[in-house]
Amino acid sequence: MTTDSTPPAGVLRPHAEQQYADELARLAEHDDRPRPPGWRLSPWAVTTYLMGGELPDGSRISPKYIGPRRLMEVAVATLATDRALLLLGVPGTAKTWVSEHLAAAVSGDSTLLVQGTAGTTEEAVRYGWNYARLLAEGPSEKALVESPLMKAMRTGAVARIEELTRMPGDVQDTLITILSEKTLPVPELGVEVQARKGFTVIATANDRDRGVNELSSALRRRFNTVVLPLPATAEEEVDIVARRVEQIGRALELPDAPAGLDEIRRVVTVFRELRAGLTDDGRTKLKSPSGTLSTAEAISVITNGLALAAHFGDGVLRAADVAGGIVGAVVQDPVSDRVAWQEYLETVVRERPGWQDFYRACREVS
Ligand SMILES: Nc1ncnc2c1ncn2[C@@H]1O[C@H](COP(=O)(O)OP(=O)(O)O)[C@@H](O)[C@H]1O
Ligand SMILES: [Mg+2]
Repeated sequence: MTTDSTPPAGVLRPHAEQQYADELARLAEHDDRPRPPGWRLSPWAVTTYLMGGELPDGSRISPKYIGPRRLMEVAVATLATDRALLLLGVPGTAKTWVSEHLAAAVSGDSTLLVQGTAGTTEEAVRYGWNYARLLAEGPSEKALVESPLMKAMRTGAVARIEELTRMPGDVQDTLITILSEKTLPVPELGVEVQARKGFTVIATANDRDRGVNELSSALRRRFNTVVLPLPATAEEEVDIVARRVEQIGRALELPDAPAGLDEIRRVVTVFRELRAGLTDDGRTKLKSPSGTLSTAEAISVITNGLALAAHFGDGVLRAADVAGGIVGAVVQDPVSDRVAWQEYLETVVRERPGWQDFYRACREVS
C-alpha cells in the first residue's frame, strides 16, 4: 500500500492524486483564495482542476470533465456545505470519474471508497472487527477495523460511495446519522468518532437503477443532487472520446497509432443516432437497442480498435478495427438488438456517402 503521491513502478492505474500530482501541486502554489477548513485547495482551484485552465505562470491544467462548468461549480460548492453530494446520471456520464477527481482535489485522497452492491454490509459503511484480535483481546481500538467512511471522518476527508442505490435500504440508512450528526458511535468501546472539518461524502447513483433501492427521503435530504448529462453535441462527445483515448493509450503504452478522428466521429455518430432513435439529419426513425451506448463505451470501442490497429494492422485506425467493437456494444440482446442493428446497417450505413468501408467491415462481423 502507498499513500505517497508517487505510485510504485508498474502500477496499472495510478490514483488521480498520483497521476495528476504535478497539476495539483501547481494549483496549490498559485491558489491564494480562501480554502474551506480541511481542504487542500480553494473551490475555485478545485473547479479549475476539473475543467482545466491556465495558471499565471503559463502552465496548463488539463481538463478532466468536459461539459457545463456550472455543474462542477455546483458540485464543488456543495462539498463546502454540510450537505453531501450525489452525482446522478445514466451509465458512462463520468460520475465515478468526477467523484474520484473531486476527492483527489479536495482531500488529496480519492481512495476512501465504499462500493455499493446488493451485498454491501453495514460493516463496510461503519466499521468491522479483526476477529482473531477480538477473540484474543476482546473489543479494543486495535481490534476495530475502520471503514473508509470512518477514516474519512477521523481525518476530515472526502469519502466516496459508488452506486449508492444498489446498497440495501437498511445499509443506506446507516448513512443518515453519519451525514446529519457527523458522528459514528462505537457502542462496543463506548466511544464515538466525530467527523473532522473537511469530511463529506460524494455518492454516485445510476439513473437506470432507479427503483432498485430507491433512496429514502430522509437520506435524500442529506444530499444535493447534480445530474451529469450525456454530451450535448456530437462535437463535444468526439472531443471527450478523443482526449480520453489519447490518455488511456498513453497509460497502456499502446504503440503509437494516430487516433483517427474520422473513426471516432463515426463511432460517436452511430452511438448517438441509435441512442436517439433518429438519424442526425432527423429524417429516419430508428429502433433503439437496449445497450447504453454511452460515451464510456465509445471510448472503449476506440481503445480496442487502436490496440487492433497497432498490433495486427498497419498502425492506422480503420473501419475494420472498430466494427467488431461497435457491433458488440450495440447487440446486447441477440434477438431484438440484432434486428435494430441490421435495420440501421442496411438503411442508414449502407446509403451514407463515404461509409462504404465501414458498411463492409460491419457486414463481415455482423
Ligand atoms: N463529460 C465527460 N468528460 C470527461 N470524461 C468523460 C465524460 N463523459 C464520459 N467520460 C469518460 O467516460 C469514462 C467512464 O466514466 P465513468 O465515470 O465510469 O461513468 P459512470 O460512473 O457515470 O458510469 C471515463 O473514462 C470518463 O473519462
Ligand atoms: Mg460509475
